Amino acid sequence: MSQTSVRSEVEAGRQRLRDALVAYYLDERPLLGDAEYDALTERLRKLEAREPHLRDWDSPGTVVRPPALDAFPTRRHRVPMLSLSNVYNIDELREWETSLLRLLPGERPVYLTELKVDGLAIALHYEQGRLVAAVTRGDGSVGEEVTRNIKTVRSLPHKLPEPLTLEVRGEVYYTVADFSKLNQGRERLGEPAFKNPRNAAAGTLRTLDTAQVGERRLHVAIYALVTDSPYETDAETLGWLAGLGFPISDPLQRFDRLDAIAAYYEQTRARRHKLAFQIDGLVVKLDRLALRERAGFTSRSPRWATALKFGAEQAQTTLEAVEIGVGRTGVLTPIANLTPVELGGTTVSRATLHNYDQIARLGLKLGDEVILEKGGDIIPKVVSVVLEARKGRRFKLIKPPKKCPSCGTAPVRLEGEVDYHCPNPACPAQRAERIRHFVSRTAMDIESVGPALIEQLLASGLVQTYADLYLLGAEPLEALERMGQKSAANVIQAIEESKTRPLEKFLHGLGIRYVGERTARVLALHFGSIPALEAAGVEDFENVNEIGAVTAKALYDFFHDPQQSEAMQRCLQRGVRPAPPERPGGAAAALAGKTVVITGTLGAPRTQWKERLERAGATVTGSVSAKTDYLLVGASPGSKLDAARKHGVEVLDEAAMHKLLEPR
Ligand code: IVH
Repeated sequence: MSQTSVRSEVEAGRQRLRDALVAYYLDERPLLGDAEYDALTERLRKLEAREPHLRDWDSPGTVVRPPALDAFPTRRHRVPMLSLSNVYNIDELREWETSLLRLLPGERPVYLTELKVDGLAIALHYEQGRLVAAVTRGDGSVGEEVTRNIKTVRSLPHKLPEPLTLEVRGEVYYTVADFSKLNQGRERLGEPAFKNPRNAAAGTLRTLDTAQVGERRLHVAIYALVTDSPYETDAETLGWLAGLGFPISDPLQRFDRLDAIAAYYEQTRARRHKLAFQIDGLVVKLDRLALRERAGFTSRSPRWATALKFGAEQAQTTLEAVEIGVGRTGVLTPIANLTPVELGGTTVSRATLHNYDQIARLGLKLGDEVILEKGGDIIPKVVSVVLEARKGRRFKLIKPPKKCPSCGTAPVRLEGEVDYHCPNPACPAQRAERIRHFVSRTAMDIESVGPALIEQLLASGLVQTYADLYLLGAEPLEALERMGQKSAANVIQAIEESKTRPLEKFLHGLGIRYVGERTARVLALHFGSIPALEAAGVEDFENVNEIGAVTAKALYDFFHDPQQSEAMQRCLQRGVRPAPPERPGGAAAALAGKTVVITGTLGAPRTQWKERLERAGATVTGSVSAKTDYLLVGASPGSKLDAARKHGVEVLDEAAMHKLLEPR
């Protein structure tokens, strides 16, 4: 075969495969039969292998009917996906209405309110009654097509009862229950939990493996028809959409007075925790479509709608006392003891005050009435003092502690630090905290050693550091109060079993400064064993992705200071044998010890790729050298691709990398 005909065969083959892929994924109408598809892929691969100069990173020859997409195509929104302005209370809503009515003189509009579901926006395109594309908001002008993933949403019609061509928009979300199930599953796999249902939904939608998306249960609430409506009001339009089978954001309410909206807002706020999904407010919209047109848009949001948000939830209660918590590193944290009060669905009786500077900033005194707030996160904080409630009474100042509540040592405050800390490493509270941390679920996971037992063990002198757990015998344990033969045996067995916990858990348990769960995992994957960590220099630590100079120094110090690492050494002497890192998904061997460089624009965010590669054992570095094993290329790769060719580095596109990472 001549060179030119090989080239044209390769090019034609690629085009045919690309068309077939598009047809397969987007139209669900196969262009090629399975056998034909495989044969063509095989042929293309052979030609590319034989003629390296014809290789192309982007060739579908490397795409072997993947269960996963290699990337999401992008699509421009015909009508931009805007955001909403926000107001946080009824007074602000009135101001919003005042400026709206200036644009609509003489009108007394009817408002529609909907729940503001906390998820992410999606545009759905139907052609001739069929769902043909689902596009994320992206930057508002261009989004990503996640059609296959959206099609796993069971409540969404793939086919309408009439052959309509239209675009609707809505919110993709998780129910609170599904969200917590998802996170439990992730924790079991050692994957980081999603912070909130919104992040979880976003993460799921951007998963390339549709089968995985299908196992999760996303929902959609439709709140808008973007193409022309056959009706004059939004309420009628949404009713019509509901009749076509769309899941509509429920319940819609119509109001002609803001007072009524105010009551509904308070009522909704009060029952928000009883809903199956998370909401962060109401959306208030003009109902009449003609009025919307007259009100128009700003560059960022419609003038005819606004989000009436709940904001952080607040409650008022009394500060009864300030307790001092001693952390495992000796930090003394002031903790507010409060008269119990309901806040965001739970009863709160304690809140962190962070540090003494914060107390001074708040002007907080014992006995004060305080405002507590619970925002998006779980931990309540004290945000202000109700000064009027003091009524001339004089309350006691809250002063920094003169001694550690546990050991009585005088606290120190280092220059440049906000915290006071107890400098005594033998401080019982610190000891207890260190052991508590060591046995905790995210470390050695020794459940039967609870806080009460730790207190007893320390008090009786049986244990001084976590390493001493591995010396415990049945007899002295049985002699402890409330400890029978059976529970003593259980405790001993649990401690014994912990000896072979994964290296990352052990590393986390050691309590090295700045080394949390995630860093421990990164370290375990990178170094693989304690001896390797002990042999590492400061620079070796710094060269690990995600590890900064301060942590690198702390790590080096820990492994080289006999005093700091004493308990660790004792653990090892007493039979702890951390298991080498486990790699989820069975991709273990795939990239263990390999070095990967990423270049070009990828379908999934680069950080996501990096994380995935590292989980499979790879080290991700920034530049290509002879030591690089793989170059992962996206669209418009730069000079790294040339460098890879020069060094003979294997070049993979996203699909090929997915393939490599798949469990075999
Ligand atoms: S209407 C032109 N209605 O909130 C914007 N948005 O903060 C039209 N959202 O991007 C949006 N529930 O993702 C609308 N009932 C609802 C909503 C809703 C949630 C989201 C949506 C929007 C964001 C703005």
